Amino acid sequence: MIVVTAPTGQIGRQVLDILMDADAPVRVIARDPARLPARVRENAEVIQGSHSDKDVLAKALTNADSVFWLLPPDLTTPNVEDYFRDFTRPFCEALTETGVARVVAVSTLGRGVAQNAGQISASLAMDEMIKATGVRYRALDLPGFMENMLRNVPSLKVTGVFASPVTPDRKQPTVATRDIAAVAARLLLDPTWEGQEGVPVLGPEDLSADDMARVMTEVLGRPIRFQQISFEEQKATMTGHGRSEAAAQGLIDMVRAIDRDGIYHARPRTPEAGSPTSFRQWCEDVLKPAFEKSAFEK
Ligand SMILES: NC(=O)c1ccc[n+]([C@@H]2O[C@H](COP(=O)([O-])OP(=O)(O)OC[C@H]3O[C@@H](n4cnc5c(N)ncnc54)[C@H](OP(=O)(O)O)[C@@H]3O)[C@@H](O)[C@H]2O)c1
Repeated sequence: MIVVTAPTGQIGRQVLDILMDADAPVRVIARDPARLPARVRENAEVIQGSHSDKDVLAKALTNADSVFWLLPPDLTTPNVEDYFRDFTRPFCEALTETGVARVVAVSTLGRGVAQNAGQISASLAMDEMIKATGVRYRALDLPGFMENMLRNVPSLKVTGVFASPVTPDRKQPTVATRDIAAVAARLLLDPTWEGQEGVPVLGPEDLSADDMARVMTEVLGRPIRFQQISFEEQKATMTGHGRSEAAAQGLIDMVRAIDRDGIYHARPRTPEAGSPTSFRQWCEDVLKPAFEKSAFEK
């Protein structure tokens, strides 16, 4: 039995699709089962509740072989580290009590090098808590998701500009969530691996914000430009959109660690870490339809 947390999220629902296509026995934990697709409600076991709840986890993990673990983002938390720690603790207790064999978790690049890196540091601390239970573990070591660009659709549509504090020509890896889901599902369906390791999933190439603007210009058929803004401006925008001070500061610390400290490049890229979906392909398949559907106009 494979347990899937966050089954309605952008990665979780794609993991679930692959597992169900493979006819694997699946159990999901969902706060609102009505948000699950009909085929999941009909063919998977559904445990209602949050995967931060010890009783829900005790029920969901009983007689399970492996778990897909994803800690949901909380944009309003008063303390990022506490949020990650408090969310992970009941899971670790349930792992120890139920004796689940394997966990595959969504994590981040930066292990061993990130310092004061906001949500990245908190996610790496989550890995250590899970590893301390002794479970066989694969942390998916991820860069920023291509899907993050979807947040910019309104401004791309109205002004043709997307903005952030990153250095315009500094290249970074970026990954499509479909590639993350494919690696997660492969590991969940494989009952042979042992030990505890990080598995980088990096997309096929590193790209700068300027590179992305060029690709989007070609795919969307209109001029797109990147604008670098200060950390202060970025933080004010985020808190203006309802993020807590702590969540916004965490994201600023994260960007600083990625862009200025170069934590994504601490280890050289290997061929096995590359994943197939290019940013151009992702723009054709995901960004362009979202852009064309968006109600925002010039
Ligand atoms: N974005 C990036 O660039 C990046 C990079 C590296 C790592 N990550 C990590 O990737 C993860 C985000 O993945 P994603 O984009 O697939 O997530 P997502 O689409 O935001 O999905 C979040 C899921 O969590 C559920 N959820 C939200 N709050 C919950 C709560 N309090 N209790 C239980 N379930 C809750 C949601 O379900 P309902 O609302 O339906 O209940 C949904 O299924 C985070 O752990 C983040 O740290 C992100």
